[in-house]
Amino acid sequence: MKIKDELILGIETSCDETAVAIIKNGKEIVANVVSSQIESHQRFGGVVPEIASRHHVEQMTMVLEEALEQGGLAVEDMDAIAVTEGPGLVGALLIGVNAAKAVAFAHEKPLVGVHHIAGHIYANQLVEELEFPLLALVVSGGHTELVYMKEHGSFEVIGETRDDAVGEAYDKVARTLQLPYPGGPYIDRMAQTGTPSIRLPRAWLEEDSYDFSFSGLKSAVINTLHNAKQKGEEINPDDLAASFQESVIEVLVGKTLRAMKEYGVNQVLLAGGVAANKGLRGALQQAVEKEGKKLTIPPLSLCTDNAAMIAAAGSVLYRLGKRSGMDLNANPGLDIEKPFN
Ligand code: KG4
Ligand code: ZN
Repeated sequence: MKIKDELILGIETSCDETAVAIIKNGKEIVANVVSSQIESHQRFGGVVPEIASRHHVEQMTMVLEEALEQGGLAVEDMDAIAVTEGPGLVGALLIGVNAAKAVAFAHEKPLVGVHHIAGHIYANQLVEELEFPLLALVVSGGHTELVYMKEHGSFEVIGETRDDAVGEAYDKVARTLQLPYPGGPYIDRMAQTGTPSIRLPRAWLEEDSYDFSFSGLKSAVINTLHNAKQKGEEINPDDLAASFQESVIEVLVGKTLRAMKEYGVNQVLLAGGVAANKGLRGALQQAVEKEGKKLTIPPLSLCTDNAAMIAAAGSVLYRLGKRSGMDLNANPGLDIEKPFN
C-alpha cells in the first residue's frame, strides 16, 4: 500500500519577499514562488517597513495562486499550512500570518507557526538529509547566530551578534562605497578581485565566547575611507572590500570551527542570505572538510528568503505535533529556543 505523500504549504513575508511554496514529504520542492520587492526599496537604501507591508498585501493572493498552479494542486490537497510567525518586521509578518490563518480556517487545515531562522536552517533539508547533532551558522541581513541542534526541532543558540548582523554590516559598508542596496553581493564580487592589504580589526570578543560583533569592523572601514579622503589619498575599493571580507570570514569560520569541535558535531550547515557569499562558502568548506566533517550549503535561491524553507521546517514541526491556533500572532521577537507547545 502506498502511503499518501505529505504536502505542506509554506508562507513567508517577514521582510521584503512575498513567498509561497509547496513541499512534498519535507524534502521535495513541488512549487516555489518568490516575489521580491528589492527594487521598491533600493532608492531608500534599505527596507521601508510600510512599503514592505503594502507590497505583501498586493502580492499575497497572486503568489499563493501561482504556487498552487505551479504544483497543479489545491489547498484541499495540503496536510498543513506553515507560516513564518517571527522574527521580522511586524507589519510584514502580519500579512503572511493572516493569509495563512484565512486559508487554514477556510479549508479546515492545521496551522503551524515557524521561526524564520528555523526555516533558514531547514533549507538544508531540501538538499541533504540532516545528521544530528549538528551546528548551523545562520548569517543574514537580520541575524548572525551559531545554533546547536541535538535533534529535529531543538535549537540552542550558542552564539549571536551583539550589534550588527553580518548582512547588515555588508550593506552598510556597501552604502559607504556608494553601491546599490543590498550591497552584500557587490562587496563579495569586489573582494574576489581585490587584495586584502588594508589592516582591519577582528572582533574575537572573550576567548570562550561564540558571540559576534561587526559594528567595530564596519566603523573601521568607514573611518579608513574618510581618513584617506581627508588626506587626499586613493583607496582601491576592491582592496577595501577584500580586507573587510577577510576579517568577517576569519571570525565566522574561526568560531564555527571551534564550536564544531567542542560540541562534537558531524555536520555543519550554512544558512541565510549571506550564505550566498562566495568567499565564506569556500573558506568554510575548506576548514570543515579539513577536519573530516561535512558542510551543507543550500543553493543560492534557497539561501535568501523563500517559503520552501518555511514549509520544510513546518513539515518537521507538524510531524513533531506542533499546531498553532487561530490566535496565532506575528511575533517580531520570537525566541527560537522556546519549546513550541
Ligand atoms: O536571508 P536574507 O535574504 O534576508 C534576511 O532574513 O535578512 O539576507 C539578506 C542579506 C542582505 O544583507 C544581503 O546583502 C546579504 O544577505 N547577501 C550577501 C550576499 N548575498 C546576499 N552578503 C554577502 N555576500 C553575498 N554574496
Ligand atoms: Zn531571512
